[in-house]
Amino acid sequence: MNQLIRLLIIALAFVSCQKKSSKSDYIEQRVEEILSKMSLQEKVGQTSLRGTSSRVKGDLSEDLKNAVRNGEIGVFLNVMNPKYVDELQRIAIEESPNGIPLIFARDIIHGYKTIFPIPLGMAASWNAEVAETSARVSAIEAAESGIRWTFSPMLDIARDARWGRIAESPGEDPYLASVLATAFIKGYQGDSLNSENSMIACAKHFLAYGAAEGGRDYNTTIVNEELLRNVYLPPFKAAFDAGAQTVMSSFNDINGVPASGNKFILKKILRDEYNFDGFVVSDWNSVTEMIPHGYAKDDKHAAERAITAGLDMEMTSTSYEDYLLALMDEGKVTEEQLNDFVRNILRVKLRMGLFENPYREKVDASKWYAQSHLEAAKEAAIKSTVLLKNNKTLPLNKNQRIALIGPLADAPVDQLGTWTFDGDGNYSLTPKQAFAENKSKFVFAEGLKYSRDKSSAGFKKAIAAAEKSDVIVFIGGEEAILSGEAHSRADISLPGAQEQLIDALHKTGKPLVLVIMAGRPIALGNIMDKVDAIVMAWHPGTMAGPALYDILNGKAQPEGRLPVTWPKQGAQCPIYYNHPNTGRPASADSFVGINDIPVGAWQSSLGNNSHYLDLGFEPHFPFGYGLNYGEIEYEKTIVSSNKLRRNETIQVSCTLHNKGNYPITETVQLYIQDVVGDIVRPVKELKGFKKIRIAKGESVSAEFTISTKDLEYVDSSMNYVVEDGDFNVWIAPNSADGIKASFELIE
Ligand code: GLC
Repeated sequence: MNQLIRLLIIALAFVSCQKKSSKSDYIEQRVEEILSKMSLQEKVGQTSLRGTSSRVKGDLSEDLKNAVRNGEIGVFLNVMNPKYVDELQRIAIEESPNGIPLIFARDIIHGYKTIFPIPLGMAASWNAEVAETSARVSAIEAAESGIRWTFSPMLDIARDARWGRIAESPGEDPYLASVLATAFIKGYQGDSLNSENSMIACAKHFLAYGAAEGGRDYNTTIVNEELLRNVYLPPFKAAFDAGAQTVMSSFNDINGVPASGNKFILKKILRDEYNFDGFVVSDWNSVTEMIPHGYAKDDKHAAERAITAGLDMEMTSTSYEDYLLALMDEGKVTEEQLNDFVRNILRVKLRMGLFENPYREKVDASKWYAQSHLEAAKEAAIKSTVLLKNNKTLPLNKNQRIALIGPLADAPVDQLGTWTFDGDGNYSLTPKQAFAENKSKFVFAEGLKYSRDKSSAGFKKAIAAAEKSDVIVFIGGEEAILSGEAHSRADISLPGAQEQLIDALHKTGKPLVLVIMAGRPIALGNIMDKVDAIVMAWHPGTMAGPALYDILNGKAQPEGRLPVTWPKQGAQCPIYYNHPNTGRPASADSFVGINDIPVGAWQSSLGNNSHYLDLGFEPHFPFGYGLNYGEIEYEKTIVSSNKLRRNETIQVSCTLHNKGNYPITETVQLYIQDVVGDIVRPVKELKGFKKIRIAKGESVSAEFTISTKDLEYVDSSMNYVVEDGDFNVWIAPNSADGIKASFELIE
């Protein structure tokens, strides 16, 4: 019987491979068929992504319609009026020379109408399902507007909280980012690319955009190839392995070569090594921005640079449209290069089923903000919330009189966060609304009108409210505009007079809960000792209120874990857990703080290692950190053997005890250190994590299996290697704690 089942499985696998290959053969055949009929002008048209304003009113211009009619445009960005989508698509299908359908694109980053937490918040959930659900709901809602391509997920590893786009990132760790990348792609693209609510994804920004020097957006990045391959590429590789159909070149230069003209990343890595067969789109005007980069002398030269590097499609600037044919006439680019771009684009359009079903069904607005979508967004916001401090002040209880204060306690638009063009604040449920709906005993006094408000005019009312209460819940942080693209901050403390107001509230002597809504870690040094609890909610989205109500009142446990290291100040950045050890690693036993240095101290008398005299060497909170309302104790890490033979595995385990009063879902993390390498290796790297449910009073064993695959990295010869030698391993609650075990890898 087993033999028969085995044969059946093999036969089914063979048939499905055959089906896939026949389908891809069919698509390749169609690509060549269509390509053979296209004029040069039409081929150039397919490489052109036309940006429009989603605020277009009145009729579409005749110029625009004629450009479509002549096959001069392949994709539209930001056409948000379904009437326009249908009209432009009809012209493309019925009136253009070969009826090649258009793709309509939009930045749908963490929700279309129903807004989920910002991506950095979803990364804090350490939960692939949260990412996949957010993407799936986005695709279902966006399909109603005819949007079939989103410029998401953003997969830029971010190690600098000053950088505004850390808000959109999957955090600082390649492993966690890769898990999320896979989930986002599955969610956006769904089970089949040609289903009407599948939205093709776009892995962005290729490459190393988050390494911007000084955390200043668009800035230069100097990243050696080992770091590109060990840190910045893995999430993109995961996205391509999950079937991402497009990738976006980034604004930055990488070691002096702008990404949109960078043959090394767009050809050698993306095509030759990864065999990527989708298409590459530039970022907004990033082709012609090679002129200010100093990498192109004019638009024509920029087009030549980008074409030579293998960039398939130009977003919004028109250097391809204007100069590609002239460059061909001059022999600087060939028709075959253009044909390859068109092949990649047609392949994706065919996979999307656009030739068979170019038109969307009539708009079913009932899908927008569907109850199930709102519930999913609330669940995502709950799972993304990170408890950073709790002096037994949380959870609140129903009998307490609450003073609800702060500029983000009732901010329906700001709670949505950055990149939420289509989210509507009128659908937001704010914390103030949630407290009211749950009939909490509370009084509301915003204290400040918005996060940057410097006026103390509202302080008196806020303090009066606090004095009449049993506990203060202050909801502050950043307006949505203070993170996201081009919104980097050097000072990452609470803006405006928030610290002053917190200080005044602290002086009332009431317990003070600080809830932060922000697009980045916030410097807390000045207020840490003035608050009794700290909840990081990121920008939680449409359902911020109900999610926070449940967390603050203990109806839900805070499960989130930091996806980024939390610095004491912006001056500490870049700061991240998986750093090399250096030859003089910082240590508590040799560190001398600036205020402890004796006057007249001899020059070399201080701890000669890597730290700041005035800020020390540790972050405020480590990567992976997060509390809950319980108390989980980790015993030491155990290995099944202290020898690991190649192509074998060892088991790593740790007993956890739930000593608290609640059942807890714990995010148990596995870290490994390669003690000696061909190049210096990080002090530790996340290699696994799992959510384990532990009932009150229960003890459980968390177990992981380690194989040589987990120990692989790219060495100085750019080879994937696993080297014999010593390794340390931790099963831990975060990147700073845990009791390590060790093993040796042997032949
Ligand atoms: C922006 C962003 C990119 C976005 C694109 C289209 O400048 O860098 O992430 O997808 O332009 O809006």
